[in-house]
Amino acid sequence: MSTLTLLATALLAAAADNSAAHDIPDPLPVGQCINVGNHLEPEQESSWGGEILDAEDFASIRGAGFDTIRLPVRWANKTGPGPDYVVDAVWMDRVQEVVDMAFAADLNVLLDSHNFEELHANPAANTAKLAAIWRQIGARFADYPDERLWFEIENEPHDALTNRNLLDTLTPALLAIRETNSSRPVVIGGEWWSGVDSLATLELPDDPNVHPTFHYYEPFDFTHQGASWVDPSPTIGRTYGTEADRQRLANDALKVVAYMARTGRTPFIGETGAYDAHISLEQRVAYHSAVTQQFAPLGIDSCMWAYTNTFPFRDQETGEWHPELLEAIQWSSGAE
Ligand code: BGC
Repeated sequence: MSTLTLLATALLAAAADNSAAHDIPDPLPVGQCINVGNHLEPEQESSWGGEILDAEDFASIRGAGFDTIRLPVRWANKTGPGPDYVVDAVWMDRVQEVVDMAFAADLNVLLDSHNFEELHANPAANTAKLAAIWRQIGARFADYPDERLWFEIENEPHDALTNRNLLDTLTPALLAIRETNSSRPVVIGGEWWSGVDSLATLELPDDPNVHPTFHYYEPFDFTHQGASWVDPSPTIGRTYGTEADRQRLANDALKVVAYMARTGRTPFIGETGAYDAHISLEQRVAYHSAVTQQFAPLGIDSCMWAYTNTFPFRDQETGEWHPELLEAIQWSSGAE
């Protein structure tokens, strides 16, 4: 056994002890998960090039073997002024309709707040708005089953929103949710776009139904090569699969296991993927396969980025799934 494996085994045992000693709830049962990304974040639904979501999308996602969707939604530009920040009623109805379509297809839904850029630029000035938004979402979905619908307070904290001010910023929103959803699972990711290093200093509120997450796009110069929304955009042509890449993945997994040992909690990967514009399908398959084979055996589930419109698992033109990608994210413990 390698030193890394021995260390990971010891840390996992510590994680199990810690979890039992502190009566920590089971990990969120995310299972196979995919982000329905770039649909409800634009100003108008799917105006970044996607199609309007309908029931077929969710039936197809279920049919492809997914248990859960993560549903990114931009709310912050759909409200009236403070102090109430009333969410546009048509928008709220549409989000509910999308959640209902996913439920009808027997999918769990992780509903988030995405792209609230002002919050990341100035957390203190936007804390009340975030809470007001979540108070309304909470009220709207209060009767939905805790087992099937989960909330994620804000995607990828970054810029001025760090692990130092994360709880001050997110706790009012959590309390607003708790006014109507006493035990709804709520997800929180840490600073620096919830990268794996954020786990080292991530603290969660004292609430048994809050679950940790992180995002995994490492090595970033591979997964985001040529991405126009990254400045500077990583150079095109970086391939994946060297020994150094394997070592890095193993080291990153060790960081997650260290988090599990420290807290007793098992996080899940809320986003992982590689940009299709400049990366071949074969290389995307190699990446997803490596990430799955590294994290799944540790009990860490992943949400793929993404469905059709960005880093796609399903071709929007043909409607066909990429079977190689679906296969790459399979992992079986062999236990029946
Ligand atoms: C962003 C997307 C982006 C993806 C990969 C997500 O969190 O919302 O716009 O394509 O990360 O960078």
